[in-house]
Amino acid sequence: MGSLQDQEPATPSYFLPVNEAEAERLMAQHLVLIDSLDGRIVLPDIDLTQPGLKILDSGTADVFAGHWISELRKKLPSPGIHTYVGTDINPSLFPKTLPPDTSFSVHNISHEWPSDMHSTFDLVHQRLTLPGAAPTPLSQVISQLFALLKPGGWIQLVEAEQEGPDSGPVFQEFLDLVRGLFTATGAGWHYARDMRGWLEEAGAVDVDECVVDMAFGAKNPNEKLAEMSARCTAKAMDGLVKHAKSKLRF
Ligand SMILES: C[S@@+](CC[C@H](N)C(=O)[O-])C[C@H]1O[C@@H](n2cnc3c(N)ncnc32)[C@H](O)[C@@H]1O
Repeated sequence: MGSLQDQEPATPSYFLPVNEAEAERLMAQHLVLIDSLDGRIVLPDIDLTQPGLKILDSGTADVFAGHWISELRKKLPSPGIHTYVGTDINPSLFPKTLPPDTSFSVHNISHEWPSDMHSTFDLVHQRLTLPGAAPTPLSQVISQLFALLKPGGWIQLVEAEQEGPDSGPVFQEFLDLVRGLFTATGAGWHYARDMRGWLEEAGAVDVDECVVDMAFGAKNPNEKLAEMSARCTAKAMDGLVKHAKSKLRF
């Protein structure tokens, strides 16, 4: 047992620069992704109107950048009926003030979760965070996350496939670089497709997959999203290179 704060190192090793620009980048990414999911924040068939659910967003960034918890709260008819926990390796973007039903803590997904969190969550969400656990085997990370669910609970994992067969040459080059970086760090780039098998190995039943195209840049028919997504993709590159350097020895 032990609190998350007790167990985690103070210095995060996460790759992307933590500042306003990063918060803006994450928000743009969130908007493009949610748009591609037709506005759906939660995909499993869970009755979110029943009060008292405990909900985790792992790799949350924060309510203004990562945004998932605050979006979910806003969508529910009455806020404050559930308990929300956001965790991230990097606390720099955690908001200073929080609603009483929400708490944020530091946790590195490469590590075991505190035992007092095991089997306590009705819904666990993790988005675009899994490769940050490398070189820890990603199957182990999924299994550790799965252990947080109550019997009958749901887990929603959202990751990018790092492929864009119909994209232009610049985006292809970006994806080549991302695949190369993630291969070098040990995450590889097939993890989005492997998650189903890892979940089943961990004991998940009733597993479903939803694959959508994220429309970046000129491919996005919404002018504002087209501009935002092009800008946020370009901004990601600096952080990805720093990430690779932090994980690799030259
Ligand atoms: C691309 S951002 C995604 C943020 C948010 N989930 C979203 O979808 O908007 C990746 C997040 O994962 C966190 N992260 C990276 N590696 C991590 C690790 N090993 N443990 C926990 N969080 C990690 C980062 O600090 C960052 O907030």
